[in-house]
Amino acid sequence: MHFHKRRLCLTGLLAAGISSLAIASGAFASEATVVPEQPPVPAQAKITYVPRDAIEEYRALPSYSEPDWVTKNFVDTGKLPPVKDRLPKEPLVFKTGNMPDGIGVYGGTLRHVVGGRPEGWNYAAGQAQGWGGIDIEMYECLTRTAPLYQVEADDMEPLPNLAKSWDWSEDGHKLTMHLIEGAKWSDGVPFTADDVMFYWDDNIVDPNVTPLNGATKEMFGKNTTLKKIDDYTVEWTFEEAFPRQYLFNMAYGNFCPGPAHILKTKHPKYANTTYDEYRNGFPPEMLNFPVMGAWVPVEYRPDDIIVLRRNPYYWKVDEEGHQLPYLDEMHYKLSTWADRDVQAIAGSGDFSNLEQPENFVVSLRRAAEESAPARLAFGPRTIGYNMRLNLSGNGWGEPDERAQAVRELNRNEDFRKAVTMALDRQKLGDSLVKGPFTAIYPGGIDSGTSFYDRQSTYYYPYDPEGAKALLAKIGLKDTDGNGFVNWPADTLGGKDVDIVLLLSSDYNTDVNLSEGVIGQLQQIGLHVIQNSIDGIQFESSRYRGDFDWMIMRNPPEMAAVVQGTSGLAPVGPRTSAHHRAGTDGTLDLMPYEDQLVDIVDQFIATNDNAKRAELMKDYQTVATKNVDTIGLTEFPGALIINKRFRNVASGAPIFMFNWAEDAVIRERMFVPADLQGDYQLFPDTLPGKPGGDGPVSG
Ligand code: GLA
Repeated sequence: MHFHKRRLCLTGLLAAGISSLAIASGAFASEATVVPEQPPVPAQAKITYVPRDAIEEYRALPSYSEPDWVTKNFVDTGKLPPVKDRLPKEPLVFKTGNMPDGIGVYGGTLRHVVGGRPEGWNYAAGQAQGWGGIDIEMYECLTRTAPLYQVEADDMEPLPNLAKSWDWSEDGHKLTMHLIEGAKWSDGVPFTADDVMFYWDDNIVDPNVTPLNGATKEMFGKNTTLKKIDDYTVEWTFEEAFPRQYLFNMAYGNFCPGPAHILKTKHPKYANTTYDEYRNGFPPEMLNFPVMGAWVPVEYRPDDIIVLRRNPYYWKVDEEGHQLPYLDEMHYKLSTWADRDVQAIAGSGDFSNLEQPENFVVSLRRAAEESAPARLAFGPRTIGYNMRLNLSGNGWGEPDERAQAVRELNRNEDFRKAVTMALDRQKLGDSLVKGPFTAIYPGGIDSGTSFYDRQSTYYYPYDPEGAKALLAKIGLKDTDGNGFVNWPADTLGGKDVDIVLLLSSDYNTDVNLSEGVIGQLQQIGLHVIQNSIDGIQFESSRYRGDFDWMIMRNPPEMAAVVQGTSGLAPVGPRTSAHHRAGTDGTLDLMPYEDQLVDIVDQFIATNDNAKRAELMKDYQTVATKNVDTIGLTEFPGALIINKRFRNVASGAPIFMFNWAEDAVIRERMFVPADLQGDYQLFPDTLPGKPGGDGPVSG
């Protein structure tokens, strides 16, 4: 409430055309104003909203079936138990009414293209599998949120997944989760509470390990504990009462357990190994790595392809008892992200999240033709880019003297304003793609979320002269006449201010944005140096805090707010992407950051929707007025899927709670028999033994 009043009062001031700063300091135009209205998104798909229980349920069916060749080559020969014995007591059943094309048929291949490369299979210890949907299909999580884009607002709670149900204690401090009972890993070993406990105790909580996507204990609340009750029950204890928000953090990508029976063989607590040996102990060459997901990696050729085959123990079925998935094989061609768009449009690939605006026009044009092999539909504006200034003044990433001096600048409000005012966002957006796609985006939550409120979103209009004046005001002047501002004489010998901008070279968009930013900042005399490195190194640098500034595509909390919420502010020592605890474990928060933390904590603690909406308006005002991050641009993405696929949920956004690879529910997608083509590399095979030679034919 307190912040709300402040916001109203600020709006009043702006309306009256009074800027306290302008009055106090005379010259500067560094006055916040409401962000301009955005152009409507073209070619946007429609969504049919449903309650959660319209999508899935857990129940035993009278009978089950599987592809004929599995029965014939594996079950009848005694190599696999019958399908009913491979399924849990009550499998997850997808309801036909929610499947756009209904019950499917077996067979077919989904050919992905990715720009990432696999480090190995140890997601639990932070290894990337190459992104683009590989890890999303291998690892199942306690809950699932990506399909919530189609769920009615008043039923907004994560879907059950590995946890098939949960109940709260009367006082709301305990949450008992019931796991699917009798389900198995893809190698036939039972999935139990021990897998969940190993993930929590020895990966999330163990300070020497950080899972991929950065799960930390604090994401689940202060002093939260988890314990095993029995093989299929775990119990959470929270300090807060009814913190339903944490159910979202139990979805992708923060609570997706790996196979404890495999991982423990290299974890230092259970084996005579180092943490490095644990992280790197399951290289991409290790085939048939056990998963709970619908497909298992059976082939890896460096810089060429990863192939996955159907998991014979998968624990989801359709209402007629067909074991899922329908699709037998998944391909991931190891290429570039830009090539993913090209191939999906050309029909040599099947799927792309069209997220690099440089490819929009040509893709739209081709997709509009009758003969186009793929469908393309835009979603809301949920792809946003921010430049993040490292706000730790007390040692995160162990800065040297120069980097420490930059941190002090980053923490100066006038400096952040100068940087944001130096950016011509219209031009930045137009340099990626002309037309109505990109919008002026000052930072804060994305305009595509239901929590967005334009009137609470402030920005400092493009004003290079004002920006220069602000730099001068804080003592940054070009004392040697070389066009770039210098430090004051007593800092770093009065040298040029050099700032290093970290970014991932995997995406053309990131590189183009950084070049635009560097050029525009040069106009106000700020010398910014590009440090463009591959995605794997980029992730490692940013988590280490080893950056002055970085360009980062927005994480889910900006696109969905309720997903990964603790990332919206430094509510814990390791929750924010640009301000984490220093070497002594403490955070040196500035007053506006304390406000953000307070707002986010309140948001997490309440289940009152009206209050949440108000809190997010306050968040937006505090974040954008104080330039917590430097927004660059924001645009919609489009999902491109080959026309031969069925059961692709309409309107699935490429990014909201998670990426579209999760939202489209690939395990229930299918291809009619006559359209399946001849794409399978390993027809009629299943994954072999973990670490074995690849797929086996029975
Ligand atoms: C990368 C891609 C996204 C999406 C994700 C899935 O980040 O850029 O479009 O495919 O992988 O993890």
